[in-house]
Amino acid sequence: MPHSVNEDIKITVVGAAGGIGQSLSLLLKTQLASLLPSHRHAHLALYDVNADAVRGVTADLSHIDTGVSVSGYEGDGIGGALEHADVVLIPAGVPRKPGMTREDLLAINAKIIKSLGASIAKYCDLSKVFVLLISNPINSLVPVLVKELEAHAPGLPVERRVFGITRLDAVRASTFLHEATVRAGSTPKSNTLPYVPVIGGHSGETIVPLFSLVPGASDLSKDTLKELVHRVQYGGDEVVKAKNGAGSATLSMAHAAYKVVESFIPLLTGSVPSIEGTFYVALQDSKGQPINASAQKLLSHINGLPYFAVPLRVTSAGVDEVDAGIIERMSLFERERLLAPCLGKLQGNISTGLSL
Ligand code: NAD
Ligand code: LMR
Repeated sequence: MPHSVNEDIKITVVGAAGGIGQSLSLLLKTQLASLLPSHRHAHLALYDVNADAVRGVTADLSHIDTGVSVSGYEGDGIGGALEHADVVLIPAGVPRKPGMTREDLLAINAKIIKSLGASIAKYCDLSKVFVLLISNPINSLVPVLVKELEAHAPGLPVERRVFGITRLDAVRASTFLHEATVRAGSTPKSNTLPYVPVIGGHSGETIVPLFSLVPGASDLSKDTLKELVHRVQYGGDEVVKAKNGAGSATLSMAHAAYKVVESFIPLLTGSVPSIEGTFYVALQDSKGQPINASAQKLLSHINGLPYFAVPLRVTSAGVDEVDAGIIERMSLFERERLLAPCLGKLQGNISTGLSL
């Protein structure tokens, strides 16, 4: 069923027939309706270059008994998937195999993301849409996508509408911390796992988990905390190794991306003026100016890096205030041993992305 302009909320998944795309679309089809007030309606638009696969996924999902409507698009039909979208989720591109780094995916995935950026600029309302990028390497591809959108929409603050999804790192940090505290003998007081802020980027040393800001983590030994940091930084490798050539994390990533969409829903329905979350975003506009005073403050702590994952507020205009104070709240160990190497690596990843 084609999407009509009157439908309330439209979420588009680009790369919907892939490992992440299918699982994420399933979560959205089954859960989105329960997040909306009864008089609001959600539509799920699925696009993939793999025509047979996206047709199959669309038909399959459309039989699920929820109020979320579904439509599928392939090949040249991307315009139908993107027009009127409130949120565009992009898990399109190639995943890693054992022995590869995320950076090894850059050449092929940058081509895909540039072409998708041109389509988003053509078909989406750039004063309304939120673009959530999942494809790797996030550290370089967010700059690629922002640059592409800026080229097609000069003068519009498009950099505030692009969000690199690093939530999987926080999901892992939370899970691994929970396991470590249980191993250390503590009994969990609730089924809700502790939330661990993770800042920086999404690859190896650029991933900076801030266990010092989590009350439950202070009882763990320094060695245990160092092991946890390492496991969060290289958690993706565990899955790539276990899948042994069949790709990288899909199910945990779909969960992480679903949690992000869930967090955007109150903003999309207008029931709140802003939401909060941690995303890898642009801190400067196309002229190289800080996007606001909070970004300017953060830039002064991170060697002026124009992209960084940080807790921030999102309004209907996109990225709003960023939590620059988090750099002052982190421990000395985190600042000297984790943030410093992160900044060096991230600088290289951003420059590579901007040079493409
Ligand atoms: P996959 O190969 O299973 O799926 C990718 C899908 O993208 C395929 O269906 C393919 O046909 C489609 N595709 C390719 N080019 C396209 C285009 N131009 N337009 C639309 N669709 C296109 O891969 P996956 O396991 O789903 O992973 C997808 C990406 O997500 C990879 O780059 C992976 O590294 C990344 N990833 C990121 C995170 C994160 O934390 N941000 C986590 C896991 C994976
Ligand atoms: C992850 O962290 O699992 C993803 O970035 C996929 C990967 O290549 O590791």
